[in-house]
Amino acid sequence: MQKSLGIGLLGLGVVGRGVLEALQGNARAYEARCGRRLDVRAAAVRNVAARADLAAGGLSLSDDPFAVVAQDDVDVVVELMGGETPAADCIEAALSAGKSVVTANKEVMAKQGPALLALAEERGVELRYEASVGGGIPIIGVLQRDLQANDVSSVRAIINGTTNYMITEMSQEGKAYAEALSEAQRLGYAEADPTNDVDGIDAAFKLAILASLAFHSRVGPDDVHCEGIRSLEARDFVHARDLGYAIRMLATARQTPDGLDLRVHPTLVPVSDPMAAVEGVLNAVSVSGDLIGSVVLEGPGAGAGATSSAVVADILDVGSRLASGQAPRRLRPIDPSPQLVPLSNLRVRTYLRLEVPDRAGVLAELGAVFAAEGVSIASVLQTPHPQRSQSADLIVTTHVCTDGALQRVLDGLELSDSVIELGVRLRIEDGCDND
Ligand SMILES: NC(=O)c1ccc[n+]([C@@H]2O[C@H](COP(=O)([O-])OP(=O)(O)OC[C@H]3O[C@@H](n4cnc5c(N)ncnc54)[C@H](OP(=O)(O)O)[C@@H]3O)[C@@H](O)[C@H]2O)c1
Repeated sequence: MQKSLGIGLLGLGVVGRGVLEALQGNARAYEARCGRRLDVRAAAVRNVAARADLAAGGLSLSDDPFAVVAQDDVDVVVELMGGETPAADCIEAALSAGKSVVTANKEVMAKQGPALLALAEERGVELRYEASVGGGIPIIGVLQRDLQANDVSSVRAIINGTTNYMITEMSQEGKAYAEALSEAQRLGYAEADPTNDVDGIDAAFKLAILASLAFHSRVGPDDVHCEGIRSLEARDFVHARDLGYAIRMLATARQTPDGLDLRVHPTLVPVSDPMAAVEGVLNAVSVSGDLIGSVVLEGPGAGAGATSSAVVADILDVGSRLASGQAPRRLRPIDPSPQLVPLSNLRVRTYLRLEVPDRAGVLAELGAVFAAEGVSIASVLQTPHPQRSQSADLIVTTHVCTDGALQRVLDGLELSDSVIELGVRLRIEDGCDND
């Protein structure tokens, strides 16, 4: 047997603790798989005093992650602190020192992944990030390796368990947004500040990582059009169901003739779509390519066990390569500035919920606003407003039109005396859009 592989763990939270327990609990099996023993030599946390139990067990603890990175007997750095700072600097320091890195950090990989991967390649070491998207779902390796023979045309994903849980509760239990959020917080699925989840920022980080891999392009979170779920009401799920749809927080990356289309927003998908069946905190990713057709991966997108599964697999792979003296995997060249499709050019169908005064003539007035922009209405449903007796809810779906034309309709509706409130606007994805 070769000398053991020294691991430095940065972070011992939900994931770090899970990784430590897996490495300790399965030490013999991993040693056999990897060809050398995996020794956690040091770990960094913010509050060392709170981890006295681990220190008593012989683990060297520090509140300085850079000191762990610099430790001579640490060969591989496993970054599980989260956030951009100081995580990105720690990863850069490790790579610069010729140490391979495993991370679960979507924010760092979405914002700085291409530069850090280039640094790893230059230094002849590995930077692995399987756990950064979809928790336990092995989608990064699938895109990097298993689907590399394909020309990928699209990636569609549910990659935020918090919003999928909330949406499921609103849809199945009729819960209001606020109620679904506090339930998610009580169960530990949502943070005290849920902004990154409910506004789609977390999903945009992950979509940027997936799109970079799928389309061999430098895609950052700012390239992703992002809308959150705050304006959804429980009754939208009922109306959507009556129309044959489920609502999902969908992350979509498509290669179109005019460039990349990158979006995260709540979307109406047909009830027969595999994404409609993804419920609760589960995640799913569907990839379409010229050879494979479509493949869907579904599974737990978070949690100590599932995320450790991905992190430890990366550690084992890096360890095996080091043990056998294999060179790091070569990266495919990427397009540094891919063409993006302007949102206004996209062709979409739309679902609108409007609060309107319950009086004669409203439909004709609103119809004129749509007609002025050449947007054709597919269906209209009027129902009593749940709180205000003088108002009605109007549920309008449109035929395919450009996003820009629909936006001009919304601007017109905003100014119209026949609209009390623009409730929600959702895009419908049913295969006839964007042809
Ligand atoms: N949780 C999941 O299910 C999940 C799933 C997929 C990916 N991830 C990713 O995995 C990473 C870790 O997530 P987590 O949920 O395990 O986070 P967490 O529970 O908040 O744990 C973070 C850990 O990092 C330590 N830490 C943070 N900043 C530090 C600093 N400046 N110096 C030293 N230690 C520091 C914390 O120390 P203290 O313990 O002293 O506070 C804590 O041990 C994140 O990138 C996250 O996005 C998480």
